[in-house]
Amino acid sequence: CGIVGYIGKRDAYPIVLNGLKRLEYRGYDSAGIALYDGELLNVCKTKGKVSDLEIKMQAASVIHGNIGIGHTRWATHGVPNDVNSHPHYSNSGNLVIIHNGIIENYEPLKKELINRGFNFKSDTDTEVLINLIEDVKNQEDVKLGKAVQIALNQTIGAYAIAVFDKNKPNEIVVARLGSPLAIGVGEDEFFIASDASPFLEFTKNAIYLEDGEMAVVRTHKDLKVRKIHDDSLVDPYVQKLQMNLEQIEKGGYDSFMLKEIYEQPQAIKDTFRGRMLVDQGLIKMAGVDDHIDKFLNAKRILVVACGTSWHAGLVAEYIFEELARIPVEVEYASEFRYRNPVINEDDVVIAISQSGETADTMAAIKLAKENGAFVFGVCNVVGSSISRETHAGAYTHAGPEIGVASTKAFTTQITVLTLIALQLAKKKGKISTSQFHNYLVELESIPSKVKDALESNDHIEQIASVYKNAKNCLYLGRGFNFPVALEGALKLKEISYIHAEGYPAAEMKHGPIALIDSDMPVVVIATKKGHYEKVVSNIQEIKSREGKIIGVVTQGDIDVRGLADHAIEVPDTLEFLTPLLTTIPLQLLSYHIAIALGRDVDQPRNLAKSVTVE
Ligand code: G6P
Repeated sequence: CGIVGYIGKRDAYPIVLNGLKRLEYRGYDSAGIALYDGELLNVCKTKGKVSDLEIKMQAASVIHGNIGIGHTRWATHGVPNDVNSHPHYSNSGNLVIIHNGIIENYEPLKKELINRGFNFKSDTDTEVLINLIEDVKNQEDVKLGKAVQIALNQTIGAYAIAVFDKNKPNEIVVARLGSPLAIGVGEDEFFIASDASPFLEFTKNAIYLEDGEMAVVRTHKDLKVRKIHDDSLVDPYVQKLQMNLEQIEKGGYDSFMLKEIYEQPQAIKDTFRGRMLVDQGLIKMAGVDDHIDKFLNAKRILVVACGTSWHAGLVAEYIFEELARIPVEVEYASEFRYRNPVINEDDVVIAISQSGETADTMAAIKLAKENGAFVFGVCNVVGSSISRETHAGAYTHAGPEIGVASTKAFTTQITVLTLIALQLAKKKGKISTSQFHNYLVELESIPSKVKDALESNDHIEQIASVYKNAKNCLYLGRGFNFPVALEGALKLKEISYIHAEGYPAAEMKHGPIALIDSDMPVVVIATKKGHYEKVVSNIQEIKSREGKIIGVVTQGDIDVRGLADHAIEVPDTLEFLTPLLTTIPLQLLSYHIAIALGRDVDQPRNLAKSVTVE
């Protein structure tokens, strides 16, 4: 979910509304805004997107006020409908809240509140929280900030909240535990949001609350930050934002996803800028170099991640083992955290997360730390929770990724992990100086090769039009490109809603081959490097069962071209670098199929970009 708030001299409505649009990547099942204009407290909410909310609010002309909070929801408790949407207000109608997260013990709290005479309109945990705050406020006769603090100390769960009282319209109380919350500090005005994008054009000064902190933001007063559990004051650190508006706008593209696909040459360049010094034959990565003994003494590397980031971890497994000869295990963070895994002090754990906020990945990190492991983060969002929780790390520097389906985050994660693998391979003496140098030279050429791969866009659009009505699709790859097959299938599922599976090419004969008939497109990654002949045999097996073959091949390949129904070329490169190129046509194929089907590629149904719940 995403939350936004404003308090100050300006009209809150456009700020909160535009803020929600920028945060829609965090969830878009329903949306709502509460505004107070000194007389009326208007709460408007609706199932659907922020644009639906906008229509509803304009129609009702409830758009006035200098204080406002808004929410865009990814449903957890209760189906996405108008009633369950945020903001929620308390029984008296005085207090309003927006909440990102989950209050786990809401049931006993709700029972108690019902016994005390409270009634509930929605099924949400959030309505329980706002009534709990009201109950505390009345019972203990305390100010809003104190009531929020006492109530939060009775909850178990995760939250980023903003609360205001219509009887005190000069303050908003905010708090965070487990879900991000940034405060934009203007001149006698404050902005509140899940990330800084909603207030970029108003102020570059931001305070990121830490877990367990709360703040009361008041006009005409200094901002005070406290620890929720013991009330101690915290000196807030005001950060200067580096992000600019251009980075979070579509810049002429039809969608963020397409823009981000096309940004990959630059994003990969940005990822190795300053880190890869080809002339000097050096890689410099402070996060790795400062802890090099940890890496060199590691008996194994454990990778924890979710979704696309998990696929980047799988690619890294192949690269680390090939180059640096360190055993690697890759785990879904959600499995790792709950299955009593063996973690040793000489393990290095690498946590990969675009957003740096994924709840399961965060929990896996905490578990690894408790067991004495060294934890290294690979995140895209600077200053994110995971980047702060890890012992060290390396940012991907891909720039903001807004399309829900991850594209440039994936290729830049692979780039960072490749740099680390190369550094360790060199330090461990597993590759010679000249090999190292050659690898750097080739890596440096990847951005322009990605550009070449993007040239197939029109051809891929045509292929997409042929297969857009497929019910199923199979993706096959071997070695370094097996995880790329998984990622290709995930991309198609996410944005087109066509069922797709990724498999190691040779595994096809152990099951998926039963699905193949003349209606089944099979995307086969068959670059010249690696087990090329074996993949060609797999293609023959598909062909003899009348499957339709879309081959991703090395430029100039004629063998697969002769067999496949369609061939998409990518430039030649070293085998371990092929995923950076083979991924590109698969992203474009999913994109064009989804567009041909009229899907919303930036905001596919049921998904959210940043999943801050378990
Ligand atoms: C969500 C997104 C995926 C993403 C995954 C992990 O499910 O929709 O695109 O790969 O979370 O996110 P992270 O930010 O940790 O990489």
